Amino acid sequence: MSWKDKVVIVTGSSIGIGRKMVEQLLAQEAKVVMNARNAERLKASVKSLQEKGYQQLIGISGDVSRHEDCAQLITQTVEAFGQLDVLINNAGISTEGDVAEVSNDIYKKVMEVNFMGSVYPTQYALPHLRKTKGSVLFVSSVAGIRGIPGYSAYSASKMALTALAESLKVEEEKHGVHVGIAYVGFTENDPQKSIYDKDGKVIAQPSRDFIKQEPVEKVAARLISIVEKRRFKHVFTMLGKLNAGVNRLFPGVVERILKNAYNNKIEE
Ligand SMILES: NC(=O)c1ccc[n+]([C@@H]2O[C@H](COP(=O)([O-])OP(=O)(O)OC[C@H]3O[C@@H](n4cnc5c(N)ncnc54)[C@H](OP(=O)(O)O)[C@@H]3O)[C@@H](O)[C@H]2O)c1
Repeated sequence: MSWKDKVVIVTGSSIGIGRKMVEQLLAQEAKVVMNARNAERLKASVKSLQEKGYQQLIGISGDVSRHEDCAQLITQTVEAFGQLDVLINNAGISTEGDVAEVSNDIYKKVMEVNFMGSVYPTQYALPHLRKTKGSVLFVSSVAGIRGIPGYSAYSASKMALTALAESLKVEEEKHGVHVGIAYVGFTENDPQKSIYDKDGKVIAQPSRDFIKQEPVEKVAARLISIVEKRRFKHVFTMLGKLNAGVNRLFPGVVERILKNAYNNKIEE
């Protein structure tokens, strides 16, 4: 597949994995729409890529958890570039905390961004993707394969994407739209990355230096290749693959591993 002049939206792409995907797509001559809530940071990201010589890109600010913003994202993309070939539902937020302590509001927010924030853009994009026989990619996580203690809201929101992708794949087959879902593993974080604490306060992502993290370039390239190869499910990293395989065959073993990790963490 050639990316030349393919029109691609990457939600949540002012920093991190999304931004890296944008850069790699532009390098392959795609026309790209970047998106994020913070308009200033988005503008700065667009500008820095333009300064590298990439001109086939625009930024459309908006919140994927607001359906009006998603409608605008799709409409303005088609107005600017005439069509839509690929939607990458990448925007996501993370949170930590046990079920007993995470506030209702933060559960709601995580589901609204990570789940509804993938539903809305997809619904508005489908009429255009059917015309181009394009692709929708959902960016899930290895935390979406099995509920992780201390991360239930995030895990649940990413697991919900599996059901969405499975249903959509069968529904859209007759229209020629490809559906993919990626279970991304620990990735080197953008220094600007933030997460929500159990009360919904935005905090810097705590250091994860004790875990092996994949380079963001590699993760972005692998996400792009899922679309190129029109693959359905793809689990990243050896640890992720092991987790998925063992969880299917011996769920009790994974529970024991998670229990040990969780108990060690609360003893720290
Ligand atoms: N990093 C990892 O280790 C890892 C592992 C597994 C899966 N993932 C998944 O990969 C995706 C990207 O992760 P990342 O680490 O690159 O994220 P990140 O560095 O935190 O960047 C998130 C991006 O999404 C935007 N965003 C957040 N909420 C949004 C909303 N409501 N509407 C529109 N844009 C929004 C942010 O900009 P604004 O704040 O300005 O909106 C930012 O551009 C996420 O879905 C994440 O769950 C990441």
